[in-house]
Amino acid sequence: MALNIIILAAGKGTRMRSSTAKVLHKVAGQSLIEHVINSAYALRPDHVLVVHGSESNQIKKQCSNYPVDWVLQTEQGGTGHAVQQALPYINAADDSHVLILYADVPLLQIDTLEALRLQLNSADLALLSMHLDEPKGYGRIVRSSDNAVEGIVEEGDANEIIKQIKEVNSGIMAARLATLRECLRLINNDNAQSEYYLTDCVAAAKQLNKTVIAQSCQADEAQGVNSRAQLAAAELIYQQRRRLSLLDSGVSMTDPATVYIEGQVYIEADVSIGPCVELIGPLTIATGTRISSHSVISNSAIAKNTSIHSFCHIEDAKIGEGCELGPYARIRPQTKLSAGVKIGNFVETKKSEIGKGSKVNHLSYIGDAKIGEQTNVGAGTICCNYDGANKHQTIIGDNVFIGSDTQLVAPVEIEDGATVAAGSTITKKVPTQSLALSRAKQTIISNWQRPKKRS
Ligand code: UD1
Ligand code: CA
Repeated sequence: MALNIIILAAGKGTRMRSSTAKVLHKVAGQSLIEHVINSAYALRPDHVLVVHGSESNQIKKQCSNYPVDWVLQTEQGGTGHAVQQALPYINAADDSHVLILYADVPLLQIDTLEALRLQLNSADLALLSMHLDEPKGYGRIVRSSDNAVEGIVEEGDANEIIKQIKEVNSGIMAARLATLRECLRLINNDNAQSEYYLTDCVAAAKQLNKTVIAQSCQADEAQGVNSRAQLAAAELIYQQRRRLSLLDSGVSMTDPATVYIEGQVYIEADVSIGPCVELIGPLTIATGTRISSHSVISNSAIAKNTSIHSFCHIEDAKIGEGCELGPYARIRPQTKLSAGVKIGNFVETKKSEIGKGSKVNHLSYIGDAKIGEQTNVGAGTICCNYDGANKHQTIIGDNVFIGSDTQLVAPVEIEDGATVAAGSTITKKVPTQSLALSRAKQTIISNWQRPKKRS
């Protein structure tokens, strides 16, 4: 049976108080509407349509990678009106399935949506409901004495008795195309908001003697996002889900509530994560690695048994097996560390490769450099890679020893086994096995009198 999915995204989102369209606000670094579009495509639909408003160029641009069809709703006449705009663009059999998703309901699980669709085997219209202790703001599901769904009453139209109902509408609905068409023909805008409510399709279906089923789901799945507080609540639910799935797969976390995860993050079993860590995909972390508190790691691959001490910042990097980083290391894009590399405190690396077992332990800048194996870079070494116009490379061989407080003025090369004395400014090639030393000779002035403070 063909599946058509309509995603409603034309609402104004005034309750967000934002110049950004509501559905472009983000949960875990991804816009609400993209969460919903991804869920839609996970159902392998035949056709996805997004209903958007006239000011939604931002939304179209953000979602330009998806092959959805865009349907303009020039005036926001309500959710029912929005679906009416989309129906003429659905070229499918009368009995094909239509699933309606709201772009501001981003956390639905695929299994839940599959199950809702399966309800159409026995029902004409299936909606997803949930039970909330605080149902305020949601449409309430009204049932008859024999527990059949009778209709949905919106908050603004509800009396005090109906407001007590804790079973609410998630907004998600599945129906056959013909049923939806018929129901939408029956609804009007005679209500508190003078809008055509999609939710009135339920009463319309009853009127047409159709069977309506409400399938309930976990409250945390179907939370809508209308305000900043609800956006924060959705983020919390999403994060909780990701953390639990990592914990289940064998990752340990000292304080899971403070670990934040975005995008595609694959972590093997027996990785341990300290408090206040941010992990932003695409990211892979292999077994035995430890990440201590307050580290932020994005778009990187970290091999096994590496220790990342507190306050490290790692971005677009490849970190080899058994490395030791930080505390306070800043590993910038295009850094590649081989196995057993040590990067200590207040060291910044960028676009650099560091060979097996080499160490840069203190206060250094390694930019546009290639360092061999078993080399030691002393404290305060700076790759002077930028001449004010262009960047240049520093090449350092294997088994090199660079004394502290050295400036390597690129382009420059230091060959295998060379030694650079502390405090040197290196501007020319240092040949293999040689010592380079560029500092001025020390002068001693005996009995030096320090200046005295003026009275
Ligand atoms: C809606 C439901 C309510 C449900 C709640 C769940 C209706 C009438 N009410 O209320 O029963 O409990 O969602 O979250 O459906 N939109 C359009 N065009 C419009 C109006 C809205 O595309 O003219 C889109 C919005 O962008 C949004 C979605 O439809 O993505 C829902 O609209 P919203 O105004 O947020 O409805 P709620 O008041 O939350
Ligand atoms: Ca909403």
